[in-house]
Amino acid sequence: MHPAGKVCVVTGAASGIGAATARAFAAAGARGVVVADTNAEALARVAQEIGGLAVPTDVGREDAIQALIRAAEEAYGPVDVFFSNAGLSRKGHEEIGNDEWDLMWRVHVMTHVYVARALLPGMLARGSGYLLSTASAAGLLASLSSTPYTVTKHAAVALAESLAIQYGDRGIRVSVLCPQAVRTGMFSGQTSTASMDGVMEADDVARMILEAMEAERFLILPHGTVHEYMQRKAADPDRWLAGMRRLRQKLFSRPAAGA
Ligand SMILES: NC(=O)c1ccc[n+]([C@@H]2O[C@H](COP(=O)([O-])OP(=O)(O)OC[C@H]3O[C@@H](n4cnc5c(N)ncnc54)[C@H](O)[C@@H]3O)[C@@H](O)[C@H]2O)c1
Repeated sequence: MHPAGKVCVVTGAASGIGAATARAFAAAGARGVVVADTNAEALARVAQEIGGLAVPTDVGREDAIQALIRAAEEAYGPVDVFFSNAGLSRKGHEEIGNDEWDLMWRVHVMTHVYVARALLPGMLARGSGYLLSTASAAGLLASLSSTPYTVTKHAAVALAESLAIQYGDRGIRVSVLCPQAVRTGMFSGQTSTASMDGVMEADDVARMILEAMEAERFLILPHGTVHEYMQRKAADPDRWLAGMRRLRQKLFSRPAAGA
């Protein structure tokens, strides 16, 4: 699918990958681009720049996702493309409090469920629609600095796979973006598993998203090495885990829990 003439919604669009993709949708001739984020000020600037509609939204709430979709439909008509991209990082592992785990579940997983629930009936009736989401290479492999991030991003990939299996034969296209490090608000600048293979620019990732959408490719892997790592993990999980433990020791220089 090409965004020209389409109604596109982008969450997490106040900065980084979301803002770059909203700009790319507008430049490609989208009929309407609706941008959503909790950062209302930065969001308004992006909307003004691209002539789109800003809808300040907490994507972790179902009523807010419903209101966002209503606002998009009132402004431009039925939503053709929904890019569910908002996300956050939290360092830490199983010890992180339940509130933080819950936040990660809502922003990285349940938001995509809310979007699918709200949009699929109309998209299926029209026989067309594109559900695009951002997970992470950590959703296929692992983040060494955050267990909740790894777990919820894996769930986001599983959800996208499930949607593609259920609705792929009924005109619904599904893609999931799984990058390693991208220079955005989320990138700390520190060396991590994500940045070992280089740091990409958000505009380049946005370009790759549009290319993958045009090809209707499910898995969007801006860093080619991720595919190779997936193959190694599938071929020998124990060897892959041993390699990840060595990498963890190298990066954090302490073998005990709490890195
Ligand atoms: N930058 C990277 O290295 C990297 C790597 C892999 C995956 N990702 C993923 O890419 C996506 C986009 O992040 P980014 O790198 O552009 O970072 P970013 O921090 O620049 O953008 C994320 C945006 O999401 C917004 N957001 C957070 N919680 C929200 C909520 N509850 N409701 C609405 N908006 C909310 C933030 O305000 C921010 O504008 C995220 O899902 C992230 O997990 C990023």
